[in-house]
Amino acid sequence: MISRRQFIQSAAVAGLAVGLQGKCAPAKKEVPPLPSGEGPGFWSSLRAQFPMPAGEAYCNTGTIGAPPTRVVNRMVGHMQKHAREIAHCDWSDGGIDLLSGYFPYIELREKIGRLINAHYKEIALTQNATMGMNFLAHGLDLPEGAEVITTDKEHSGGRSGWQLRAKRYGTTWRQVPVSVPVEDPEQIFDAFMDAIGPQTRVVSLPHVTSGTGTILPVREICRYAGEKGLFTIVDGAQAVGHIPVDVKDIGCDAYYASPHKWLLAPAGSGLLYIRRERINEVWTTLASGQWDNHEDNGFRLTQRGTGNAALLAGLDEALDFHFEVGPDRIYGRIKELGDSLRAGLAAIPRTSILTSLHPEMSSGLTTFNVAKMDGKVLQDTLWERGRLQPRSQGERGVRYSTHIYNSPAEIDKALAIVADLAEKM
Ligand SMILES: Cc1ncc(COP(=O)(O)O)c(C=O)c1O
Repeated sequence: MISRRQFIQSAAVAGLAVGLQGKCAPAKKEVPPLPSGEGPGFWSSLRAQFPMPAGEAYCNTGTIGAPPTRVVNRMVGHMQKHAREIAHCDWSDGGIDLLSGYFPYIELREKIGRLINAHYKEIALTQNATMGMNFLAHGLDLPEGAEVITTDKEHSGGRSGWQLRAKRYGTTWRQVPVSVPVEDPEQIFDAFMDAIGPQTRVVSLPHVTSGTGTILPVREICRYAGEKGLFTIVDGAQAVGHIPVDVKDIGCDAYYASPHKWLLAPAGSGLLYIRRERINEVWTTLASGQWDNHEDNGFRLTQRGTGNAALLAGLDEALDFHFEVGPDRIYGRIKELGDSLRAGLAAIPRTSILTSLHPEMSSGLTTFNVAKMDGKVLQDTLWERGRLQPRSQGERGVRYSTHIYNSPAEIDKALAIVADLAEKM
């Protein structure tokens, strides 16, 4: 038997609800058609579907993505509609999904499941990668003397929960060194194989490192650690929307990400996956009414009280955009642009590339420097001379992100500026 609330929800989602609840239904979706065809024409036409002015190149997706206009419109439209029509909403039966944190959002979680190859009950909606990492670091029971292994290249959002746990409960936290640049995947796999010891219970590492955008061999490491019964966690903040992610193929126990980076969702979008077979081992950290719902563990781990449902509408739109453009086409374009940047940089004297040049270990992130410049000076020079906005990495230079809103012409411009700096600085 379907409950009244479930009916209203599903009808509203389908845009079929009438009368009182009809007013509360999500704003009608209006999206421009995608450009037709393939190749450069497709990408330059698609660029017009982003609100950034032509001539300005955003090269910092690694920090936060630039959402397409349709994502912004869906989110804003949702807020406007409900601000206008809120008096029409019937809350007598617990309300509608305007409160976000109280509703299971099954369709949205199914869409995320399609993206990363998981069942919706294995997926929780969070605010970002940091929240996912903390839910794991604080939700796992670990025996006394247990050791957690990460890399020494974690973002603070990938390591701080473990540090807190180490300080509060005495869990050992150990960091495996990752060289800069990384030569090949074996180097990292061997380092983890050597580091895992009798007390190790958790292995937690990034799919793509934050500082240099190096893709780590998570599949091999998770499979190896998994065979030893360790709990394996992958930080996918820099991976989802950037490179293919198949959590079943990786074989990790948990995977968390920030779709507001490469998936181009609105800021404040997060996902946490935990494998069905191990999800009951993770306690709820942020508890509300469904905190003990082990029938739908993803919903249990989504408890967070009232949130902004417009954000989830934006995330839903970003997923639709991603699927419509085509995941493989997106990953291919990002990689092609990144490869061409790295190839061009490698040919310029006095330039250092800190991202791995192994073909399987890099895609849309490239950290580089020229003539040992200060990163902020290099960042500002690229902006002043070329309207290119990467992100300073201090003495390491800049981290330059390439996404589908970037173009080969921008890469040529960046390379020309770098070549000039190499000659004159
Ligand atoms: C590898 C990695 N993990 C975690 C985070 C934290 O992401 P968020 O701030 O979205 O939680 C970042 C952010 O840049 C990151 O690069």
